[in-house]
Amino acid sequence: MADSTQTSAKVSEVTGLYDRYVMATYGRFPVVFERGQGVYLWDTDGRRYLDFLAGIAVNGVGHCHPKVVEAVQRQCAKLMHVSNLYLIEQQAELAQALCGMCGMEKAFFANSGAEANEAALKIARKLGNAASPDKTWIVAAVNSFHGRTLGTLAITGQEKYQKPYVPLVPDVTLIPYNDTAALEAAVDDRTCAVILEPVQGEGGVLPAAPEFLRAAREAADRHGALMILDEIQSGRGRTGEFLACQAYGVVPDIVTLAKTMGGGFPIAACLARGKAAEAFVPGDHGTTFGGGPLACAAALAAVRAIESEGLSARAREMGAAVQSGLEALKAKHGGVEVRGMGLMQALVLGSPVARDVVQAAFRKGLLANAVGPGIVRLLPPLVVNQQQIDEGMEILDSAIAETVA
Ligand SMILES: Cc1ncc(COP(=O)(O)O)c(C=O)c1O
Repeated sequence: MADSTQTSAKVSEVTGLYDRYVMATYGRFPVVFERGQGVYLWDTDGRRYLDFLAGIAVNGVGHCHPKVVEAVQRQCAKLMHVSNLYLIEQQAELAQALCGMCGMEKAFFANSGAEANEAALKIARKLGNAASPDKTWIVAAVNSFHGRTLGTLAITGQEKYQKPYVPLVPDVTLIPYNDTAALEAAVDDRTCAVILEPVQGEGGVLPAAPEFLRAAREAADRHGALMILDEIQSGRGRTGEFLACQAYGVVPDIVTLAKTMGGGFPIAACLARGKAAEAFVPGDHGTTFGGGPLACAAALAAVRAIESEGLSARAREMGAAVQSGLEALKAKHGGVEVRGMGLMQALVLGSPVARDVVQAAFRKGLLANAVGPGIVRLLPPLVVNQQQIDEGMEILDSAIAETVA
């Protein structure tokens, strides 16, 4: 287990360019990655890292999956972009494949998770407005994360993200996550949609209580509102099912996907059924890039790889292995909790040292991240194996020992 950080001229050079030319939206680790394969990344000095963050849940099929690479290479040599003014065969095929996997009826494709959620919010507002002038309210959860556009920021229940950008899009009620009574009190006839993550990701890897998700479905039905599930992080096999909500037996009216969906290529989807699937007519909504031939070819290859390689089942099996590894670390280092579903897992430490642990793990060649002062999140690619999990746990063990010592 090497213990160093990349100190090459390359890091200094690129950092200089960032300081001068790139807006400071992220605090970045001092590393320039050059190459990735499967669960590993290599920096420009040739140093190898075990990637248990997978580009924040994007590289579900691993870095540079050969079938995704081949599909992208083939497609980009033929046709990259035409716009949504024309029929796109790959888009139609992808919509059919995704809808068939989760009981949805129609898809709208976008480029990012926030845009997929914007489409879902616009469907909800359109149907709400058509039903009654005051049916405009959206119920969302505290500590949620749905994106950074002004619309999705209003339903992202975290003050640190919202505060600089007030006034927010109005008519949003935030309720504490997993508080069924608060949810039932908040949803009424003025509600056009309830939007939730089945497992809160950025909010600390917190799975929904089954009764909370079922209550959301029932309250939405009682009041003629849509149930929207944001599965941008939890979907596409990560939690052991195609969608996390399938483990709960809850079927939403709209589900949003992104991240793992494109096998590393940017693409997102808003999938809907029933009246939500029919809400948009030409002119209501759109995108220049969304659902282009190249992104859809990548996503089709990723969908097929997840199916043919049984990666959802693998996420369940390897998720259990990660969970037991984290349980051992919790016991050894006085942690508080291990929580998550499938390969979306977190170790809640007994003190607010998650950032330091993540920094120490990085120096030792493991990528993870902190989603709270004491919460270390792991989102390994779905192709991870037991030996790599053992390697990751060994590094994390040493990083925690070094940090809390
Ligand atoms: C649950 C969830 N929704 C939405 C988003 C926003 O996605 P994007 O960054 O692609 O806009 C994220 C990103 O982390 C997410 O985790």
